[in-house]
Amino acid sequence: MCGIIGYTGKRDAAPILVEGLKKLEYRGYDSFGIATADEAISVVKKEGRISNHAGTAGNLKGKRGIGHTRWATHGVPNDQNAHPHTDCTNRIALVHNGIIENYAELKRELIQRDHVFRSETDTEAIVHLVEEEYAKKNHLLDAVRTAVSRLKGSYALLVLASDNEEIVAARNASPLVIGIGDGETFIASDITPMLEYTERVLFLEDGDIATVTRENVSIYQNGKQVNRPVELIDWSVEDGKKGGFAHYMLKEIFEQPQVFYNTIRGINDAPLPDCNRLRDPVTVVACGTSYHAGLIFKYLLEECCQIPARLDYASEFRYYPPPASGLVIGITQSGETADTLMALRLAKAHNCHTLAITNVLGSTVTRLADTTLYMRAGPEISVAATKSFIAQLAVLMQIVNRFRGNSQTETLLEAHKAIEDALLMDFSETVGLCENAQSIFYVGRGPFYPVSLEGALKMKEISYIHAEGYAAGEIKHGPFALLSEKTPVIAICMPGETYDVMISNIKEMKARGSPVIGIGRSGDTDLPEICDLFIPLNVATLFTQILTATVVLQLIAYHTAEKLGRDIDRPRNLAKSVTVE
Ligand code: F6R
Repeated sequence: MCGIIGYTGKRDAAPILVEGLKKLEYRGYDSFGIATADEAISVVKKEGRISNHAGTAGNLKGKRGIGHTRWATHGVPNDQNAHPHTDCTNRIALVHNGIIENYAELKRELIQRDHVFRSETDTEAIVHLVEEEYAKKNHLLDAVRTAVSRLKGSYALLVLASDNEEIVAARNASPLVIGIGDGETFIASDITPMLEYTERVLFLEDGDIATVTRENVSIYQNGKQVNRPVELIDWSVEDGKKGGFAHYMLKEIFEQPQVFYNTIRGINDAPLPDCNRLRDPVTVVACGTSYHAGLIFKYLLEECCQIPARLDYASEFRYYPPPASGLVIGITQSGETADTLMALRLAKAHNCHTLAITNVLGSTVTRLADTTLYMRAGPEISVAATKSFIAQLAVLMQIVNRFRGNSQTETLLEAHKAIEDALLMDFSETVGLCENAQSIFYVGRGPFYPVSLEGALKMKEISYIHAEGYAAGEIKHGPFALLSEKTPVIAICMPGETYDVMISNIKEMKARGSPVIGIGRSGDTDLPEICDLFIPLNVATLFTQILTATVVLQLIAYHTAEKLGRDIDRPRNLAKSVTVE
């Protein structure tokens, strides 16, 4: 996790680094720091968020510098453990995203050679290694190359020296992208901090070490100079701003009709996995919200196309026998989730064809998978995933459509209007029932079970109210013991084969004292009678029911969290890209 950024160019580095770190805060935000090089290295680093200390950090002098926003792994979040870390002579500063597995051994060795450690981090060992090599050779690139050859683990790192014009970058299993501006160069964990300055980027590969100056980028792999293609980004600066909304999450929820539309259109032009591949065994791996999209896909593939699919949490995939062959689909918004990458690597090792569904151009998964399909969600800044989930569903629904030989693109495109309608609804009464809840149960059957899981995940991560998604039939096998007037139930009950049994389940839950909020199709006459609140949706097809119910649950979570005054875009303890296993 953690976000890193570097800048060298004609402008003062500090304000660019500060603004860039704000954009990278979604990767972690328990402490931050920047270092600039003028005649000497100057550092500001602190526990807390960059947004609260932007003034101090932004005043550092120098036209080149590096910055870091942290999600703690080794060492508690405090000022000492914040990056950048500097060497004993204060000649070198370094920021790191990743985990160094052999740091304890390196640290012991370095202490024996009289290095003084000032933090509890794994990262500090790297700066001392670079210091030793730099003292021997006075060649920063070589010093970093020798230092990283000693490391086991993952890293994206940037090294700044007071007496060298270059910033040296190295990558192994953590992302790094270089932005090429006009007389200035940017390096960061992702493209969002550079959107304002350039649209020309290149992505480093694992094992790459690069030297970056304001005019020049040189990349080396195994000691030889290599070229990485320059790619053009099609995200705009506005995509990365709040645009008048109180939170990124709300903005991103409101972008969903457009995102859905754009993704369906984009997918239409992309080569989808050919049907023969889907005739082979299909396995899906993903985490969190992306896993819920996978669960909906599994249902649709099996129900609409009669294709059996296996779905695994990416973190569990390796503990079960791997598929002998076939297609393995990794769904990951960021393209950087360590567990999903690991599962896809394993699938490749077992000769499976791998397909990535991701939102981020050039992300690690795109280089790993045999084929990539892109969602068209634009940058998702809020930690809680919303528009990327809808975009994942757009891709997956289009695959299902294509496979069932049914080119329903126009009908599917219509779904964006149903999403738009849901955005205009008022949820104040629902929030009134949820805000003081001890726990909230979300229930559904069939494809609405994963929708319930997703609704509950959104509620717990941004409101901090305990919430559980359940297959409605399962709730009487234990959780019934928890039901009371303090545990509202949100039940998704759409017409179809699950309707009657859902109605019975709702009555059972009401009989145990839980207030019930029913989400169903407008015109339904049972739900308004048996539920405390009824949320009617004007939706006809299964696909629109899934999409619209999802948006309703996102908005309920959002407004509840807002009422409770939570930090919606940056919930405690979380980071958006989970790059550790
Ligand atoms: C929840 C959320 C997470 C992510 C999960 C996987 O709102 O955002 O559960 O869905 O960390 O992330 P990606 O899709 O980037 O692999």
